[in-house]
Amino acid sequence: MNRTLITNIKGLVQANRSHVIMGSDMKELPIIDDAWLLIQGEEIAAVGHMNHMPHSDVTDVIDATNRFVLPAYCDSHTHIVFAGSREGEFVDRVHGLTYEEIAKRGGGILNSAKRLQTTSEDELFEGALSRIHEMTMTGTGAIEIKSGYGLSYDAEIKMLRVIRRLKEASDLTIKATFLGAHAFPAEFKENRAAYVDLLVDRLIPLIADEGLADYNDVFCDRGFFTVNETDRILEAGNKHGLKPKIHANELDYSGGVQVGVKHHALSVDHLECVGDDEIKTLLGSKTMPTLLPGTAFFLKIHYPPARKMIDAGLPVALASDYNPGSSPSGNMNFVLTLACLYLGMSPEEAINAATLNSAYAMGVMDELGSIAPHKKANLFITKEIPSVGYIPYAYGRNVVDKVMINGKLK
Ligand code: NIG
Ligand code: FE
Repeated sequence: MNRTLITNIKGLVQANRSHVIMGSDMKELPIIDDAWLLIQGEEIAAVGHMNHMPHSDVTDVIDATNRFVLPAYCDSHTHIVFAGSREGEFVDRVHGLTYEEIAKRGGGILNSAKRLQTTSEDELFEGALSRIHEMTMTGTGAIEIKSGYGLSYDAEIKMLRVIRRLKEASDLTIKATFLGAHAFPAEFKENRAAYVDLLVDRLIPLIADEGLADYNDVFCDRGFFTVNETDRILEAGNKHGLKPKIHANELDYSGGVQVGVKHHALSVDHLECVGDDEIKTLLGSKTMPTLLPGTAFFLKIHYPPARKMIDAGLPVALASDYNPGSSPSGNMNFVLTLACLYLGMSPEEAINAATLNSAYAMGVMDELGSIAPHKKANLFITKEIPSVGYIPYAYGRNVVDKVMINGKLK
């Protein structure tokens, strides 16, 4: 079995812990200075200080002088299976239309759905695989992927089959989320209950039976799914063992946070519209508030009140929301930059949010999110940099030099 030793690490980040980080603890990021890290096969075997080096046989040595080693990012919210791009809508927004206006006239999610329905499974698979590669090279080692551009029985199943193939083909840890409730298809606009019936009575039972998804999602927001509709869909998912991870409170105080917590959601995501009531609800729960600052940036909407949430004692996770409409990038380093500049988070808080807390938000904290013995060796080595603050500082550049997934360099 391969035994790789990384030596002379300037700072080994997020070493030896594995729990959700919340409130004032979020500013504490454990870093071992002048460290080594031993990887055996696919796993982390041990970490330590250069004063006490392991003497056991090693097969490879990587010198990390002046470099930091971080656990690979866990991107707990993406939509990377899609057909085509939507730069036309981007240009429309540059000229003054809003995201909601574009959605109302049949663009947005429905635009992506139309294109996806006529795109083959193979093409969708190849497109998503190349996005996974691109994300890996910027330091991501685990990805949650949603359906939701199918919006019909056949096309939703097609998307989930593509995600299943990605799980088999990629070394990254991938989780699949069913998001049939992403938007109402045009033909159901006048009969919304019939679409919810299709999700609840036909799709959720089949998807659960065939193991096509790990989680269940609803876009609970103004102009999309109501609290009552969300309630029905989450209840059906829970009945079939699909825990919720939902889109909530992006466009309005939608009640999404409350209905998500009521159904024991693993995470509620977006949260641009969060007030005292939502914070209170989250404080009493095991639901991870997940922030997607790339979306607020790209849609030019206001950012979630991250500072207020953390200061109230909450944990937060960060994810990219990579999708063709509201956030066409999966670069988590840039997400850290946005979190520092516009969510008022320190680099340490942002790194905690994008590693352990986001690992929790996608149900993989036992195996990923930190550098600790027996966890998967999914990590990255930076270029030569002076401090971890340099990662969000150097925006738009790639500070990631080498990426290791399951003990193998990519
Ligand atoms: O997370 N908010 C809902 N869904 C996606 C956007 C999807 C799209 O515009 O294609 C999101 O931002
Ligand atoms: Fe999303």
